Amino acid sequence: MATNITFHPGSVSAGERSQLLNQKGVTIWLTGLSASGKSTIACALEQSLLHQGKFAYRLDGDNVRLGLNKDLGFDEDSRVENIRRIGEASTCHVAKLFNDASCFAITAFISPYLLDRKTVRELHEKANLGFVEVFVDAPLSIVEQRDPKGLYKRARTGEIKDFTGISAPYEPPENPEIHIRTDECDVTQAVKTITEYLVSHGYL
Ligand code: ADX
Repeated sequence: MATNITFHPGSVSAGERSQLLNQKGVTIWLTGLSASGKSTIACALEQSLLHQGKFAYRLDGDNVRLGLNKDLGFDEDSRVENIRRIGEASTCHVAKLFNDASCFAITAFISPYLLDRKTVRELHEKANLGFVEVFVDAPLSIVEQRDPKGLYKRARTGEIKDFTGISAPYEPPENPEIHIRTDECDVTQAVKTITEYLVSHGYL
């Protein structure tokens, strides 16, 4: 644990930064089962925002777990730590850092626990940063049918342990800002729904 550390503020205030960049930061937090469509929506949303001249960056569970979080597994403690690091963390303010930089931070993590997502939300609220929780929802029977990486099949045989939805829990959001049913709409519609929310809340 680091001690004797003092925060060093920059010379540009948050308001000035957002004015200079012509955008307010916000974290768009996608949560849902594996294969529910989080990464697909995140990619399409990032592309759409960049094409509108906005600074957007995507943080994806699979990608982050190849680098920054490669020391973590899928037991409960590891998942909590995964989300803690991405949300804010004393070690690296990841989503919060991008948001603070006036960037649209789009995160795509299963983030299965209500409490962890609540903690991330509170960290943003405390720092007066925007947070939009998007529930990327599809029934287990559908995501299991999609199974693009063959992981559900391996989880069913017990080869993969602690698999979300099969042998590990997923706690759905109780009050997300946006609820997208990916078994009922396509990616274009999902991006449109999120974009409309960003416009109506003054982010775009
Ligand atoms: S989280 O639960 O800690 O938020 P995260 O989104 O980072 O998970 O990673 C999920 C991705 O890791 C899945 O899309 C899948 O490709 C892969 N994965 C490997 N093992 C598991 C597992 N046991 N449970 C869920 N996803 C797993």
